[in-house]
Amino acid sequence: MNTRILKAVFPIAGLGSRFLPATKASAKEMLPVVDKPLIQYAVEEAYEAGIRHMVFVTGRTKRSVEDHFDTAYELENELEQAGKTELLKIARGISPDDMVCSYVRQPRALGLGHAVLCAEHLVGQEPFAVLLADDLMVGQPSITAQMVQQFATLQASILAVQDVPLDQTNRYGIVSGTTLDAQLTQLSGIVEKPAPADAPSTLAVAGRYILMPRIFEELKTTPKGAGGEIQLTDAIAQLLSKEKVFAYRYHGTRYDCGSKLGFLQATVDLGEHHPQVGAEFSSWLAQRQS
Ligand code: G1P
Repeated sequence: MNTRILKAVFPIAGLGSRFLPATKASAKEMLPVVDKPLIQYAVEEAYEAGIRHMVFVTGRTKRSVEDHFDTAYELENELEQAGKTELLKIARGISPDDMVCSYVRQPRALGLGHAVLCAEHLVGQEPFAVLLADDLMVGQPSITAQMVQQFATLQASILAVQDVPLDQTNRYGIVSGTTLDAQLTQLSGIVEKPAPADAPSTLAVAGRYILMPRIFEELKTTPKGAGGEIQLTDAIAQLLSKEKVFAYRYHGTRYDCGSKLGFLQATVDLGEHHPQVGAEFSSWLAQRQS
């Protein structure tokens, strides 16, 4: 079995109903934070971690994601002829030559676990990363790169986690386990979106996972769980009775871009750091607040 992480799965079939009306006919993963679509942030994060094979689990209304990572001949020709080399570099840089993209459809909205299972034939029998593009993660190195680094020694499934306020446990997968050090916990349990009163801890799963291929076998026998969907969390709960699973407290910031508030926060923070408009935007913000 491969002991390195070479593939990343991006489940993007979700309807994005939390973001209506914007997502009625468009992919929520294509919503831009400043000037880059959410999915591109996630793909760049995986690429930075050394991953070159991107597997997208798509659905209807997501064609623009495929187009985004394809060559745009007309656009490139026009930019080339107009001598707009900087813009040409941006357009070409979206899909570096050594990056491979595969697409598979999730034909029915049966949940995150089902989406990951749809990628089985493209991933095969090797460990892989899962990135939920809704969670825009900013870290140095990237959160996925931090996890790949952990994987090099742990050789086991790893979930990115963060502490959340007790009244928010019902929005996340919540883990429990044995604290190994400041960063790592060995899991003894995981439960999807528990009410605060039932939550085993306040350690919540952010949308980054490294999973061992055995997860596919577990997903095949995972019954429908929270929300009537096949939950990745439930398959991980099954997995940890058979092999070790770790939670990793990442270094960095997570923006919940599946919510309007998180999306606005990401826009302001990333806007302030944008190389082109950051300085001007920051001074505009400061002026506005005074
Ligand atoms: C999913 C997972 C959940 C995880 C969360 C992170 O939930 O099911 O366990 O904590 O992503 O963003 P969703 O936000 O898709 O409802």
